[in-house]
Amino acid sequence: MTVNKAARYAEVSKEIATVIEGEGNLIARMATVSNILHHAFDHYFWTGFYVVDPEKPDELVIGPYQGSLGCLRIPFGKGVCGKAATTCETQIVDDVHAFPGHIACDARSESEIVAPVFNSAGELIAVLDVDSDRTAQFDETDRAELEAILNSSFARG
Ligand code: SME
Repeated sequence: MTVNKAARYAEVSKEIATVIEGEGNLIARMATVSNILHHAFDHYFWTGFYVVDPEKPDELVIGPYQGSLGCLRIPFGKGVCGKAATTCETQIVDDVHAFPGHIACDARSESEIVAPVFNSAGELIAVLDVDSDRTAQFDETDRAELEAILNSSFARG
């Protein structure tokens, strides 16, 4: 399972790099990453970016995503996304109902991974939030592969 997942991430990573090559627009890059990831994996139920709002730097605002309607804003420190933004560290949550302050945009979400997104200056610009409708769907393979994709798409892109 993990081997298959890692192999699939390798293919997806190449596909993303090919599609966004030469495209400097951040929204276009985020839209492409969320679309390709979302359609590549069965365990992805909601896939998208919450970006740091330049007008309210202590808030995340919805960016490009795939899936059901997402909440529009998440304050830093609130929920899994807010914790990833505050700590600048990837969060893996096996059971969202057991996570204090979890924000339920869609009641079907059961587990999630949220990874910080940095630009080439090392500044936090967004988080990538992936939710599953099944418990405990994300592991260290998802963490390593997503962090690598985000690094090559937004910090080195
Ligand atoms: N689950 C997230 C909120 C965002 S959505 O589920 C789309 C959180 O607690 O940060």
